[in-house]
Parts: sequence; C-alpha cells; structure tokens
Amino acid sequence: MHQLLHFSNPGVGTTRLSVPHDYAKVRQSSDSHHSVRAFEKRKYGKRCMTRIIEEPTSRIASLASAIDSLLASEACFDPRVIQRMIRDAFPDGNWLPRPMCQPGDEGYARHVLHSDAADRYTIVALVWTQGQHSPVHAHHTWCALCVVEGELLEEFFAYDPDGAAAVPAGSACRQVGEGSSGTAGLHLIHRVGNARPGTAISVHIYGVATSEMSSGINHVLPVVETAAA
Ligand SMILES: [Fe+2]
Repeated sequence: MHQLLHFSNPGVGTTRLSVPHDYAKVRQSSDSHHSVRAFEKRKYGKRCMTRIIEEPTSRIASLASAIDSLLASEACFDPRVIQRMIRDAFPDGNWLPRPMCQPGDEGYARHVLHSDAADRYTIVALVWTQGQHSPVHAHHTWCALCVVEGELLEEFFAYDPDGAAAVPAGSACRQVGEGSSGTAGLHLIHRVGNARPGTAISVHIYGVATSEMSSGINHVLPVVETAAA
C-alpha cells in the first residue's frame, strides 16, 4: 500500500505524492504483468519466443544500483549521465506499475519510486495531464528527467540578475526517451508541462532525500513578462 502525502507546490497548487513504504517489497500488479505480455505479443506475434521479463521492482532496483555505482565512482559528477541512465532503463517505453501512473486532480502527481537509503537522491515518476505544468524554477540540487510516455513541453528561461527574475528563452518538445538535466543553481531555469491531449509521464531523479523534496528541489522564480510581438 502507499502512503499519500500532500504538500503545497508554489505555482501548481497541491501536488499528490505517493510514497511506497517499501517499494522493493511491492509485488508487480497483475495489470502491469498483463501489459508486459501484451507488449510481448505485439512485438513478437503468435510465434513468441520465450523472453525473461524483469519485474518493474527489479528494474527500479537496477536503476538505483547503477546510480549508486556512479555516485561511488565519479570524481566529477555529471547529471547528464543520470539522464541517460533513466532513458536506458526504459528501452521499451513505460513499464511502471499502474499505481505509479495515476494523475493528480489539482496538479501534476509525483510518485516516489525509490528513496536512497543514504538520502543522496530520490527517483520519482511525474504524471501530467493536459494543461498541468511545473512553476518556472531553477534548482536547489542536481536533477535529471526523461519522458517515458507521451510528450512534454520544456520551456527555458534565462536569469535576469537586475530583476532577480526569469526571462523566456525558447522551448523544446520532449518525446519518449528525451529529457533534460542540470546542476544546482541558475544554469537551468525551466517550466515543464503537458500541452498535449492525454497523459504524459516522466521519470525524474533529484539529489535530495525524499523527506526534503517539497522544499529542496524547486527554486521558484518570477517571470519577466515580455511584450507580444
Ligand atoms: Fe526542474
């Protein structure tokens, strides 16, 4: 079962945060099992070869293990490597169990997939319905994200030190397998959201303990409004 927490996220209202007490012990749901089988049937047809399917919990554990190894070995940490690790953990699209894909009513939903035992990072799935988006923000910590279902719009901003605000600086559509990453500070200022019909899901990894997520990730900034062309 999941513990549901609610916290205020500036700019998006209340965000639903689903935290498994011990996700490694949560068995794969029958729904996700069936979706894997359906995928197998589509990919290989009736003459389906036998293929060993890792359970989602094992895949999350594998991703966490890879991050643990990286953090233990990297003298110069680069969050772009984390972004590629997320992409590589989803070679066949979204395999997250259905409870981790549930949207929120008042804002995008965050579902915690893994909490590092040493509080160095947290892996979360973010679920976005059309029109849901983050506030414009820089980051208090390193971060990496990758889209695993649907499409997200990532809007970029530059920092205006005179006004201590964000200035629009372009955007990019992020398809499945694509994402973004950055270090703490004002190097990456963005707003992420779903501008398309349907649901989009992205997996994010932040360099904070799960207990620090509500205040330790987003550095929300005001936006300088520009005159329409
Ligand atoms: Fe961000």
